Amino acid sequence: MSKDVESLREQHAREYIYVFDTTLRDGEQSPGATMSASEKLDVARALAKLGVDIIEAGFPAASPDDLKAVQRISRQVGNQAGLHDKPPVICALARASEGDIDKAWRAVEPAARPRLHTFLATSEIHMKHKLRMKPEEVLDRVKRSVSYARRYCSDVEFSPEDAGRSDPEFLYVVLAKAIEAGATILNIPDTVGYTTPEEFGALIEGIFVNVPGIEDVLVSVHCHDDLGLATANTLAGIRAGARQVEVTVNGVGERAGNTCLEEIVMALSTRRDSFNLYTGIDSTQITRTSKLVANYTGFVVPPNKSIVGANAFAHEAGIHQDGVLKRQDTYEIMRPEMVGLTSSRLVLGKHSGRHAFRVRLEQIGYSLTDDELNKAFRRFKALAEKKKGVTDADLEALVADEIYQPENIYALEGLQVTCGTMGMPTATVRLLGPQEGLHVQAAVGTGPVDAVYKAIDEIVGTKVQLQEFFVHAVTEGIDAQGEVTVRVKSLTPADASGGSSSTEAYRTFGGYGADTDIVVASAKAYLSAINKLLVSRTQSASCRTAARRLLQREAS
Ligand code: KIV
Ligand code: ZN
Repeated sequence: MSKDVESLREQHAREYIYVFDTTLRDGEQSPGATMSASEKLDVARALAKLGVDIIEAGFPAASPDDLKAVQRISRQVGNQAGLHDKPPVICALARASEGDIDKAWRAVEPAARPRLHTFLATSEIHMKHKLRMKPEEVLDRVKRSVSYARRYCSDVEFSPEDAGRSDPEFLYVVLAKAIEAGATILNIPDTVGYTTPEEFGALIEGIFVNVPGIEDVLVSVHCHDDLGLATANTLAGIRAGARQVEVTVNGVGERAGNTCLEEIVMALSTRRDSFNLYTGIDSTQITRTSKLVANYTGFVVPPNKSIVGANAFAHEAGIHQDGVLKRQDTYEIMRPEMVGLTSSRLVLGKHSGRHAFRVRLEQIGYSLTDDELNKAFRRFKALAEKKKGVTDADLEALVADEIYQPENIYALEGLQVTCGTMGMPTATVRLLGPQEGLHVQAAVGTGPVDAVYKAIDEIVGTKVQLQEFFVHAVTEGIDAQGEVTVRVKSLTPADASGGSSSTEAYRTFGGYGADTDIVVASAKAYLSAINKLLVSRTQSASCRTAARRLLQREAS
């Protein structure tokens, strides 16, 4: 290799930021963000298409289902070239114990490029009160767990949990020990979102100066947003030399969440003049991935959220509109197309054929199987009968409502409501159930949606509490589709958390539905969440017991 090529490659490596997505692990861990195994697979596929370098697919020791879900992603996404010419790295999290590492390895072994990620807390408060370990014991455990993981895998990441509040001098010693034991990536988490950008940047700089062997490993940053500083801290970490960022789509995650993938990616690309760094992300996939994650988790993106909020590119003030019309960059620092927002409005109509439908879906990022396409096309035809022009936003809602749904235990066959000021809101609901066939139930409620939900509850027999209900018009116009996102919390003790968060007493499930009739969309969203709940119940009792025991052990 010529010297020129070599130095070009070196420079390239220095300028490249690896995007490590933890939506399926840290994101899914937050109460209410539970996703089913098939939803996780869909998200992993979307992440591969988005071009993330590493997918942290889960925490296999949390439950046998988590292990299986990671295994499935390893097999199916971890062996297929994603956006780049190779498959993404598939990573699994493990506490610093041999048992956890064994399970994590079983989960990622089928991937072409597996990674093990192990962690142990290093702050005084965590060591003393949570781990009840002395610093020397922590050091020894780090050494043993990293070298144990290295026996399985050549790609091992170590995270000193709560690094942001750890004594830097102790942190340097721990990190040096991890390198000595074979860690290839050192990830520095601000676990509780406590640091300021200056402090976090200085922490990373200190690590580069004081940790022997640091030049041989990749330094990563992982920030939480408790003070709303996660993006600023991550960027400060990058400026100090970190070359991997741990992020989630829409910033989902424990408490206030993690650093948002979309913010970091767009900050680096929009301000390339300032950072001189780049990622391998195809930013035009951002909006689509954001919607998928919002629909699956039931965590609706606020309208004013940067990059992915509904108003992020809307100009309301006359002076702004005037400016943008004269020249787009007067008020727009990014073009909406860059994040996958298409400006095309009227796309298809009732005379559009299957081919045009498929092509348009592909253009906006959806490649469906033949079966899925048939299903979606039937829905499109029905929609085009009711609505004048079917836009890209309509197509996205249609695909989310028709294709990206949990297994149907109960399906909506029909509903009828009477409501208004002259009587009691009443709903009659017809559901197609699992074995017993058709169920019809009527109920009275405070409004049409309440009446529908009561009728569904009667049929299904589940005890749930509606925690969030969000309705939104997909497009402008009186014939617009409404999309409804709900989150329901199970009130049945049998559904107590089998997930990875010990703070989650009863599980919460998100649901999504779209229709030109918002009462129908509301029924679909509620049923989608209930179906998820029912699917999760079909996991064997032993799986849940094992998971619960593990969580109890963790908590005690
Ligand atoms: O926030 C945190 O410390 C984590 C680690 C497991 C990396 O999520
Ligand atoms: Zn975290």
